[in-house]
Amino acid sequence: MSAILVTGANRGIGLELVRQYSADGWQVHACCRNPAAATELQRLAEGGAGNVLVHRLEVTDDAQISDLARQLQGQPIDILFNNAGVYGQSDAWFGNASRAAWLDALNVNTISPMKVMEALVDNVAASELRIMATLSSKMGSMADNRSGGSYVYRSTKAALNAVMVSAAHDLKPRGITAVVLHPGWVRTDMGGPNGEISVAESVTAMRQILSRVGPDDAGSFYEIDGSIIPW
Ligand SMILES: NC(=O)c1ccc[n+]([C@@H]2O[C@H](COP(=O)([O-])OP(=O)(O)OC[C@H]3O[C@@H](n4cnc5c(N)ncnc54)[C@H](OP(=O)(O)O)[C@@H]3O)[C@@H](O)[C@H]2O)c1
Repeated sequence: MSAILVTGANRGIGLELVRQYSADGWQVHACCRNPAAATELQRLAEGGAGNVLVHRLEVTDDAQISDLARQLQGQPIDILFNNAGVYGQSDAWFGNASRAAWLDALNVNTISPMKVMEALVDNVAASELRIMATLSSKMGSMADNRSGGSYVYRSTKAALNAVMVSAAHDLKPRGITAVVLHPGWVRTDMGGPNGEISVAESVTAMRQILSRVGPDDAGSFYEIDGSIIPW
């Protein structure tokens, strides 16, 4: 059975990743900050075939990351899916970006995916597919930035993209393919009600992309239709 680990699985895109992969028969390690309060996720886990395991993970907490790695020691993970993220300060326009809010978002969006990858690299290396996938955003693309603003979100996702390209190079010798995905503009708490697509459409499309990636694709930044987003 193939296995996937998803961070931020309590709601939004993360919860839908759990729903679709588990329905497809994968073993799913669903990580969330507060399992006791993760009602929908627990319902999925209890209603399924026993293939959804819920783990506690605040991604900025190194002790929790280490605990998780210990629990999963020796278990192959085909796809490590770094999904957890925050928009951070919503009014981070020129002259108004808060240093504290910026650092908090950097911690969640940029540093934590790296820390999760470092802790679980052996699990991914031991799997068949060996994929590290991270959700970034087109808002982190320099080439796509035609409107300015959003300093906190844009810069933490751009920095995340740099992390993933380095990881793609560094992990290639271990047969691991690290890629970056943009999920589309999705109707979630973060994307808001005017988003262009549902979580189901987003996750279906991303699963198709991930089903095709191989070692030659390491370091790619995918649009939801499978095309490449320029950095
Ligand atoms: N929605 C879009 O249009 C869109 C577009 C581009 C990129 N993205 C990216 O896609 C990813 C998922 O977004 P979404 O729309 O599903 O967002 P969402 O509905 O706001 O959900 C975010 C998830 O991340 C979790 N999370 C946040 N901080 C965390 C932390 N410190 N530790 C652990 N988990 C944490 C949240 O946990 P709690 O439930 O406990 O708060 C929640 O489960 C994000 O990385 C986002 O930047 C989304």
